Amino acid sequence: MTAYGTAVGYPPLRAWIAEQHQVDPEQVIVTNGSLQADAFLFDALVQAGDVVVVERPTYDRTLLSLRGRGADVQMIELEADGIDVEALERLLAGGMQPRLAHIIPNFQNPAGYTLSAAKRARLLELARAHRFTIFEDDPYVALRFEGESLPTMLSSGGDAVVYASSFSKTVCPGIRVGYLVGPSEVIARIVKLATGTYISPSMVSQAIVYQFCNSGALERSIEVVKAALRERAETLCEALTRELPHARFVAPEGGYFLWVDLPPATDVSALFAAASERGVAFVKGSDFVLDGCESSLRLAYSGVTVAEIEEGVTRLSDAYAEVTASAGAAA
Ligand SMILES: Cc1ncc(COP(=O)(O)O)c(C=O)c1O
Repeated sequence: MTAYGTAVGYPPLRAWIAEQHQVDPEQVIVTNGSLQADAFLFDALVQAGDVVVVERPTYDRTLLSLRGRGADVQMIELEADGIDVEALERLLAGGMQPRLAHIIPNFQNPAGYTLSAAKRARLLELARAHRFTIFEDDPYVALRFEGESLPTMLSSGGDAVVYASSFSKTVCPGIRVGYLVGPSEVIARIVKLATGTYISPSMVSQAIVYQFCNSGALERSIEVVKAALRERAETLCEALTRELPHARFVAPEGGYFLWVDLPPATDVSALFAAASERGVAFVKGSDFVLDGCESSLRLAYSGVTVAEIEEGVTRLSDAYAEVTASAGAAA
């Protein structure tokens, strides 16, 4: 644990992850957070000009990372049951040839939506028929507090899927442990990149996570986290319905986030400033897309108490009243 270790990750943790996903340990690399795993995967598979499909909206860091590599990013609308697969099919039928489709299947960041079983199956069919890789980015999977869990695409996708997940949301983010599961030849290429980048990820962090998993502490931690998230999400939905009746949203079944659509004319940039003045933070919808989503925003209920959520939504509603009143006066 205190030696340099190996680029594949701390072997006992690697084996534990492999067992969880019923794969060979050679199909797993454990990294410093899953964002590092994402970066390695993009370095291995994506070249400038390659088409990469992402959800619209999607995780802002993925968007930045892909654009930084010169990928041709194609955003496809995210619906309450996941990416619009019919729109993807139309683009594929029109000749689009993606290298990769980045999908956040559970409690998506930023929308909080979950990909349905039917869409998971259809995506796999499309990936096989059109020979692109599905990158299943799944850091929130363990945080379901409502409804039934769905099988990962990895579990039935074979070589069509590379899967990433993380201990950031179940142990803690500061420990920086995440991982990739994929075809062994893709993982072997990534292991070479990892060796050249850092010799090995933090063995100390990974050994701590391994003890946490092996001792049963992980399951207890997940239960604590899920109970808190459930209460926070319910409080947020109730407060929004009461205080901001113009807000449209889908109640999440897990995870950290809730996406709010406000009436189309709402200036969310002005709302952002008015909310900041009142000590309330959110992320503008436009940060998660290449263009548009100007009347939407992402609320994170993960790191705030129930009392802060109640107070925060009251202040947000006050900010909304100010912004819409001044827009009305200007018109
Ligand atoms: C969809 C998604 N992928 C990846 C990450 C990165 O997580 P980490 O590097 O902490 O494992 C996050 C973090 O919020 C995320 O929301």
